[in-house]
Amino acid sequence: AVANIGVVGLAVMGSNLARNLASREGNKVAILNRSRSKTDELLAAHPEAEFVGTFSYEEFAASLAKPRTAIIMVKAGGPTDAVIDELVKVFEPGDIIVDGGNAYFPDTIRREKAVRETGINFVGAGISGGEEGALTGPSIMPGGSDESWITLGPILKSIAAVAEGEPCVTHVGHDGAGHFVKMVHNGIEYADMQLIAEAYDLIRRGTGKTPAEIAEVFAEWNKGELESYLIEITAEVLRQVDAETGKPLVDVILDQAGAKGTGAWTVQTALSLGVPVSGIAEATFARSLSSHPEQRAAARSFPGPDEEFTVADADAFIEDVRQALFASKIIAYSQGFDEIRAGAAEYNWTIDNGAVSRIWRGGCIIRAQFLNRIADAYAEQPELPLLASAPYFADALARGQAAWRRVVIAATQAGIPSPAFSSSLAYYDGIRAERLPAALVQGQRDFFGAHTYKRIDKEGTFHTQWSGDRTEIEAEDTH
Ligand code: 6PG
Repeated sequence: AVANIGVVGLAVMGSNLARNLASREGNKVAILNRSRSKTDELLAAHPEAEFVGTFSYEEFAASLAKPRTAIIMVKAGGPTDAVIDELVKVFEPGDIIVDGGNAYFPDTIRREKAVRETGINFVGAGISGGEEGALTGPSIMPGGSDESWITLGPILKSIAAVAEGEPCVTHVGHDGAGHFVKMVHNGIEYADMQLIAEAYDLIRRGTGKTPAEIAEVFAEWNKGELESYLIEITAEVLRQVDAETGKPLVDVILDQAGAKGTGAWTVQTALSLGVPVSGIAEATFARSLSSHPEQRAAARSFPGPDEEFTVADADAFIEDVRQALFASKIIAYSQGFDEIRAGAAEYNWTIDNGAVSRIWRGGCIIRAQFLNRIADAYAEQPELPLLASAPYFADALARGQAAWRRVVIAATQAGIPSPAFSSSLAYYDGIRAERLPAALVQGQRDFFGAHTYKRIDKEGTFHTQWSGDRTEIEAEDTH
């Protein structure tokens, strides 16, 4: 046994993670892949990593020092289960199996329970940062047992990104907590991306600026409170010119967005938990809408507004869009953290939202200057009921709300879809409302289904006898 850590699955993410591990002091990395050629290629391409190449699960297990620790980097779903089954056969109690893929957290809960019965530890770890992050330093969100964290913690700290002097990894919580938090990370990623895309679309159609010119707007925004990886790469994408046609690349890319499922999981889970993640939901639906060309063709002749959309003062409009983007982004993160709070309560995890915000400051796709403010907010008030209500964010929303409304009005009048901007604003107005028409919904429910209601002026549960004399009676609470 010579290696202290192993990696199974050597596609790009796996091989980059293996190289990252090998480059850190004190690590010796065993590698294994289903097909032999990938292992041979990696050994040949990176002799400096001094990998221990292995070609069977037995050889892999024999090469690892105890407690054996292996990170699986294969496709989520069936392939992950297949590798776990093989590892369980050759590992022993106390060893640690880590799934570093984008697993759906209920699968992680199920796998953890099954593997634990063999005495082996199973850790579902979310890893964010794409191919580059895997190689140079990702943000890592491990779940699993406290016991496995003792061995795994130092290894993961050695390869994680560093932000403000701290490694971007923390023991998020037990069993599926790590993959749950990674799922919400991706949901926020969807919202962030959609909001940026809406901002681009509005500026382009309102001011007539070219993609290259709008790239400069984003580069400028990246110097302020919106500073983030996604804003930075947006400027890069908008600057790119297609070699074949000489057009901006963004104009030749088919406008149908793909999705591998993590955004949908975030929304499905939020629906079950009763958490309104409307920004994330609209971002996910916007991708779905884009990907139905036949429906879009069928609707293409629907009329839009009569007037051309032009803004009188381009700079003022761009500043409004910037503020609308920042305000909507606050809502998206606030909703995401709300889902983590609700998930922790439902699944009995102790998740420190402050720690989550700190490990998202570096390495991951949603890394942003603004996560420092989130970390400050949770440091100030760990049990914050609503992130958006922390003073810094409440102030930013108050400052930005007028511009936000102007942008949503302009988009609506111009017939430019802005589902993420407008749903975030609707959430803002909903959450701050003194009274909501939910009272009427309760009345309707009571009318057709005797679902009862509560009153603002006295304790108890009530029902109006709608089909009788319409007097009110006290009733059993049926929700
Ligand atoms: C990350 C990314 C990563 C991946 C997503 C993209 O955190 O590094 O989120 O996990 O790029 O799977 O998701 P879609 O393909 O659904 O956009």
